[in-house]
Amino acid sequence: MFVAVLPGDGVGPEVIAEAVRVLDALGLGLTFEEAAVGGAAYHAHGHPLPASTLDIARRADAILFGAVGDPACDALPRELRPEQAILRLRRELGLFANLRPAKSFKELVDASALRPEIAAGIDLMIVRELTGDVYFGTPRGRRSTETGLREGFDTMRYDEAEVARIARLALETARKRRGRLCSVDKANVLETSQLWRDVVIEVAADYRDVALSHMYVDNAAMQLVRDPGAFDVMVTGNLFGDILSDQASMCVGSIGLLPSASLDAAGKGLYEPIHGSAPDIAGQGKANPLATILSAAMMLRYSLGQGDAADRIEAAVAKALAGGARTADLGGSLTTAEMGDKVIQAL
Ligand code: IPM
Ligand code: MG
Repeated sequence: MFVAVLPGDGVGPEVIAEAVRVLDALGLGLTFEEAAVGGAAYHAHGHPLPASTLDIARRADAILFGAVGDPACDALPRELRPEQAILRLRRELGLFANLRPAKSFKELVDASALRPEIAAGIDLMIVRELTGDVYFGTPRGRRSTETGLREGFDTMRYDEAEVARIARLALETARKRRGRLCSVDKANVLETSQLWRDVVIEVAADYRDVALSHMYVDNAAMQLVRDPGAFDVMVTGNLFGDILSDQASMCVGSIGLLPSASLDAAGKGLYEPIHGSAPDIAGQGKANPLATILSAAMMLRYSLGQGDAADRIEAAVAKALAGGARTADLGGSLTTAEMGDKVIQAL
């Protein structure tokens, strides 16, 4: 099996290196092919997603992705910005379903931004739609208003087929978990959200065993810190899911812990930590590699048919944390590579 490895920018290469070491330690006979992406690709090849990188990603059985984002590219036109690489990969490969689990590690309740008794019970899955919404709607751009003011505009849109397929996947996911699905929208204000809600209700008619609820996104943000343990599966659009998943990470303890899987209709996937390139700490060995290592576990489970190996990685991460392994984001002093060592020892 062949894995495309796209380290990207900032801390991306550092955290990816640890995930690849962990995968190697399992001795599964995976082969890896590395390719440039993001700002790194722009600097080397003049484009954030070179055709050769897209080609490797297409051919691979799965993609392991670091992070993109580079302040040195801030002044570039939008189509050349590093972020376009991940957005185009998602779109070109049809990766419409983004699974972002957030689960408390009992050893880390003190690292959470929440009181320990609230942080302890988190076990939720955010199912984020990933190829639609205001991220991809047209028209978008800049223009001048009648009074000569500069104006920026984006289009928020979903069609019913896009909502139905993510709703179905979220309902299936809930069915395999605790049987509860909360759909998050802003139907009191947005037409896109009213369509979202209507379609989710229609699709859920085939899933009578799943308890469906609806929440406005502002309320969901509040409930996520008030009682995160009450959520099982959350399904939401691209923008709301982006925001709520960062928020969920701090409920659990650190954004350095949350993995993600982005899947197409056939289950092929791209796996990446939910955190970004963190340019402020890049190259210093400070980044927490666990989100990427846990993303590699998701890759084994969802795309490579290696559920046992995925379980082993997750158990090793839990064991390393139980043994006191902490990078700076968790109040410790281990380097990125030392945290990788701890996980490999635990394996
Ligand atoms: C994420 C990131 C991306 C997003 C950026 C880098 C384009 O924040 O994966 O959550 O907004 O989707
Ligand atoms: Mg994000």
